[in-house]
Amino acid sequence: MRGHTGRINSGPGRPGGCRRLQSDLLSLSSPSSPATLQVKMPHAFPFLTPDQKKELSDIAHKIVAQGKGILAADESTGSVAKRFQSINTENTEENRRLYRQLLFTADERAGPCIGGVIFFHETLYQKTDAGKTFPQHVKSRGWVVGIKVDKGVVPLAGTNGETTTQGLDGLYERCAQYKKDGCDFAKWRCVLKITSTTPSRLAIIENCNVLARYASICQMHGIVPIVEPEILPDGDHDLKRTQYVTEKVLAAMYKALSDHHVYLEGTLLKPNMVTAGHSCSHKYTHQDIAMATITALRRTVPPAVPGITFLSGGQSEEEASINLNVMNQCPLHRPWAITFSYGRALQASALKAWGGKPGNGKAAQEEFIKRALANSLACQGKYVSSGDSAAAGESLFVANHAY
Ligand code: 13P
Repeated sequence: MRGHTGRINSGPGRPGGCRRLQSDLLSLSSPSSPATLQVKMPHAFPFLTPDQKKELSDIAHKIVAQGKGILAADESTGSVAKRFQSINTENTEENRRLYRQLLFTADERAGPCIGGVIFFHETLYQKTDAGKTFPQHVKSRGWVVGIKVDKGVVPLAGTNGETTTQGLDGLYERCAQYKKDGCDFAKWRCVLKITSTTPSRLAIIENCNVLARYASICQMHGIVPIVEPEILPDGDHDLKRTQYVTEKVLAAMYKALSDHHVYLEGTLLKPNMVTAGHSCSHKYTHQDIAMATITALRRTVPPAVPGITFLSGGQSEEEASINLNVMNQCPLHRPWAITFSYGRALQASALKAWGGKPGNGKAAQEEFIKRALANSLACQGKYVSSGDSAAAGESLFVANHAY
């Protein structure tokens, strides 16, 4: 085993009984005293000024302010194709614009529920009927503009179907441009799978590292990175296994963010909730899910992180709202805001109500507002499910989900 090569002196804060450290962390303090070894700590040369840090932290806090969460409207053109197929609507640029416009122009009831909107590249440069760019319009509502900057998942060679996420090439330049074009936060999604042989150590290390690299690039441009290490719900594993894997992945990711000098106060986490695999025969209660999720987060997410913005991951709209609500009622101490960054669980009923027909715009907006209000209450632990909507209870699970 590596690392059993040297001794260091006990120092302040280091209890006696010298610990052995990796040889590459050790150096002789002076050639004349070879017995005195010191730890050569990795050094962080400051890359953010106090003003830059404040900007990042202010943005992150604004997005997760009380009662607010994120509308994830960053489906790639390919993902929209699947959504539109379900309502028999052609996947044209104009239809995508019309649909997103409905969401962004929902009436004032939606205002206090939303802190930020995640855009797909194309949408960032589209306009409302009134001629305002979507970012201008969204900002005028007090919502923070975000952008998906990853370029999707690709296979990780030699693994059992695992992936990494690409998009680092040119990211530095793209972030500079996105900031100029009004974006103050970004999203990058990595995907991990639970099977008897996964997630592998390689997949965890690679995905956590790429998230950390992305996060540091965003911060250099004043963009708050949302780090999303999604553990897919595919499989028949139980709740305990998801909790265990979630803890291992989050612990590895925060180690990688630390290694990359990421300023945690200027980040947000977008995790999966800890649920059993979609095909697990045992059904767990919302309380079980909330307790497993909050326990995993408390063990791994530093309190410096301002907010946790869950993805909905194929849960029905109603399940996603109830689970979020129960988490916000959990008796365990929670040092972060716990809110939503939902795609499917905010949009499924709205999409169905719209059906691609111009006359259904108002009905679609009503459905969107209903979910936004439900989740706004849920992120404060104040949601009371009326249980009256069959549609909202429909599973939104998609096997091996891509975004
Ligand atoms: P879902 O809420 O549909 O899981 O998607 C959120 C998201 O942004 C995934 O990256």
